[in-house]
Formats: sequence, structure tokens, C-alpha cells
Amino acid sequence: MDVDTAKRAAGTAAAALVDDGARVGLGTGSTSRWFVLALAQRVRSGLRVTGVATSEETAQLAIEEGIPLGELDGGGLDVAVDGADAVDDDLRLIKGAGGALVREKIVAAAAARFVVVVDDTKLHGHLAGVIPVEVIPFGSEHTLRLLAATGAEFAFRQRNGRPAMSDNGNLLAEGMFGRIEDPEGLAARLDAIPGVVGHGLFLGMADLVVVGRADGSVEQRSPAAPGDRVAAGG
Ligand code: A5P
Repeated sequence: MDVDTAKRAAGTAAAALVDDGARVGLGTGSTSRWFVLALAQRVRSGLRVTGVATSEETAQLAIEEGIPLGELDGGGLDVAVDGADAVDDDLRLIKGAGGALVREKIVAAAAARFVVVVDDTKLHGHLAGVIPVEVIPFGSEHTLRLLAATGAEFAFRQRNGRPAMSDNGNLLAEGMFGRIEDPEGLAARLDAIPGVVGHGLFLGMADLVVVGRADGSVEQRSPAAPGDRVAAGG
């Protein structure tokens, strides 16, 4: 009865959504790991899938677990399943605590259906917290100053006393944001900075959020249809 039970419940429920023959984006992180393990169990029972991994870490896990891997360049994806660090009421996400955000966004955008798996501690009324940004090494201190102009202090993530690098060979800047009133505006500002490869705001991308709870139950949330909030008096 803990957060790991909740993550496992979400990952396992998402694995049940994968159809035979599907090309599947495999996310990164501890919740995605449960998804990969549950998917591998279905593969051992005869399900045919081709996985496309969002990180070297996930590729390694998929290989160990016997999930056949392919390339994104081999065609689109039927579904991608990945975790998130925060989910707001409109199913907007912050992702990338694991540093795989650029490949995660490429894979999510390539999928006909993007399914997000989280435990219920990730649900918030609004987005706030650390937003990771992948930055190319050339001119990185200058890029850091441009990032700071978005309203948060940014610093490069460190690992063992050195700047952490992404699987793409880039730096990972992190900015701590309080309540983000305008996620779309912030995303546009981050996208406009030369030197930024990608950032952890995933807006309007989630088709389904599978929420796991500590008692092992799951809840599925879909984006509100246009007008729903108005109709509900919001
Ligand atoms: C990896 O880069 C991240 O986007 C993860 O998907 C995200 O941080 C969620 O991770 P957990 O499932 O471990 O909380």
C-alpha cells in the first residue's frame, strides 16, 4: 500500500490497452518501468508488438524482458505510454525528471494515442515545479541566461559532480517554477530560445491519463471535450 503499488497499478492497466501487432512507444521512469514489465508479460503470452524506447535505460529493460525493439523511423506508432511528473486538470503535463524529455516528446507526438501513467500524487490543479530543458552545449551559459528571463532561476543538472548529459549528448537545465499561470505562453517562450532542443511541458498531448492509487485501483481520465468546462459552469 504505497506509491509503488499505485505506479504498478497504472503501468499494468496501460499494458492491457495495447493491441496485438501494435507499434508501441516505451516511456522512461519508474511508472513506465511497470508498464514495460507488464507488457513483457503479455509478450511472453503471445502478444506481438514492436517497441520504440524513449531512452537507453528503457531500451535495455525491454531487451532484458524480451520485447522486440524497432526504430521510430520505421513508421508511426499506434500508442505511446509514458509517465509524468505533474498532471493538471486539463491533462497538461510536466515531464523529464528522468532527463529523457526530448525523445519522450518525439515518441509521444509520433503516436496515434499518447497514454500517460501516473500515481495520484502527480495530480494537481495547476502546473508547478521543476521544468527540465535540454540545451545544446554550444553557448550553454548564454542559453541559461535566456532561460532565466522566463521567470525562474535555471541551473544545469549535475551528476557525480559533473553536468549531467542526456542520451542525445546535451545538457539538462532545470528551472523551478511556482504556479504556472500560462503554460502555453511559457512553452512558446522556451521553444523560441535558440539552443533549446526541447522542454518538459507536454501540452495538449495526452489522450488518456491512467491514474493509479495506493489501494491498487486505477482511474482513467480523458481530455474534456471542447465546451465541457463552459457547460459545467467553469
Ligand atoms: C523521464 O524523463 C520522465 O519524463 C518520467 O517519465 C517522469 O519523470 C515520471 O517518472 P516516474 O514515473 O519515475 O515518476
